[in-house]
Amino acid sequence: MKSPRKHLEERIVDAAQRLFACATVFDAAGVKPCADSRHGDFQCNLAMALGKALGRNPREVAAELAAALPEDAVTTAPQIAGPGFLNFSLKTDWLNGALATARSEGRLGMDAAERPQTVILDFSGPNIAKEMHVGHIRSTILGDALSRILRFLGHRVITDNHLGDWGTQFGKILAGYKAEVAKDAAAVEVAMAERPIEFLEETYQGVYERSKEDSALEDLARSELAALQKGDAENLALWHRFVEATKVELHKIYGRLGVTFDHELGESAYNDRLAGVVRDLEAKGIARLSEGAVVVFFEGDAKLADKPFLIRKSDEAFLYSTTDLATVQYRMETFSPTRSIYVTDGRQQLHFQQLFATVGRWGVCPAMALEHVWFGAILGDDKRPLKTREGKPIKLRALLDEAEARALALISEKRPEMPEGQRREIARVVGLGALKYADLGQDRNLDYVFNWE
Ligand code: ARG
Repeated sequence: MKSPRKHLEERIVDAAQRLFACATVFDAAGVKPCADSRHGDFQCNLAMALGKALGRNPREVAAELAAALPEDAVTTAPQIAGPGFLNFSLKTDWLNGALATARSEGRLGMDAAERPQTVILDFSGPNIAKEMHVGHIRSTILGDALSRILRFLGHRVITDNHLGDWGTQFGKILAGYKAEVAKDAAAVEVAMAERPIEFLEETYQGVYERSKEDSALEDLARSELAALQKGDAENLALWHRFVEATKVELHKIYGRLGVTFDHELGESAYNDRLAGVVRDLEAKGIARLSEGAVVVFFEGDAKLADKPFLIRKSDEAFLYSTTDLATVQYRMETFSPTRSIYVTDGRQQLHFQQLFATVGRWGVCPAMALEHVWFGAILGDDKRPLKTREGKPIKLRALLDEAEARALALISEKRPEMPEGQRREIARVVGLGALKYADLGQDRNLDYVFNWE
């Protein structure tokens, strides 16, 4: 269905061409929704531009245009206002018909994109061996909504869950895990079967706390990490187990939210590329050695001049930045996208500014637009990041559970006679739907206070 605005634009351009034979200003007929609906539904300021171009009084031009635009099935005849505005109103019959059609034809009256793009949508990206917390809910919900909208508009969307499955945390997890196995191997098996993420997270937390005072433990964690990175078979097998166990839990949450991914290429998928990426950036003069580390400096960039981008540490370890650079390269080679969208927390703004600036200089994907869709934090009533009563970050799973439980309590109060299975299903749909709605209804870039009511 053609939008009424487009329909009007075409009619106006056509009339203006017939009357004034002046092609250049007709590219846009300047049709906009009226700011004040008492004046009409659409407003056109073409008469002003035409008046100027033809050296004539714009009100006269407007009168001639108006005379050439009698009412039709879509709009009334225009009213002339002010210095030469034309105001049009939609006809009620047409509006009723259009709404009925929109409702019945499945596209809600929206056209598909004229030039479909290939879009990479990078969202959710939780970290392995850690519970998804509420910060990940926004990325997951916003990213999923974007993917649905872009697909609906006819774009080719490739969704990728860039899991944090390869970080320094694994040194501590490996050290802690092995110590637990030495203490009680059977208990570890039970924990890994019943509550893998909690168990791994506690293991990590334990080593993290103890290693603050225990430098031997810190060294041990570092050497476990080094062994993993060098491909030690035992550590790799354990790492694999941690990743798989976490993924099972993550997928339960995605299943509840109705979110799917085309790919789940975590950070680890890019290991083989990292050294080459750094070498290439050095060879091209984009990165250079600085105090043993490899760094991209943005000299002459007003915003980033004093914000160097570290891509290899002095101990030769690669970073989040290196992985993201390799990821851009891989995606370009594999999918040739025209657009890449990253959905993360606003605290990663600098990272993505640096990443995009580096990619721009690197020149690996001149035709790909890179966008960071960032969002604010979810706050509790105390205006601080949402926490449990015990002061811990709220886990996403607990949030979903509570949303369903509260919806169930409401429906049970209102419809006690309804069979329990039906009440639960309604509670699930309403609870999760309300959570998504509450998140999507916010100004994305602002923090918002989350309130159950
Ligand atoms: N793992 C990251 C986090 O939890 C998000 C990853 C976002 N995607 C990316 N390509 N950097 O904050």
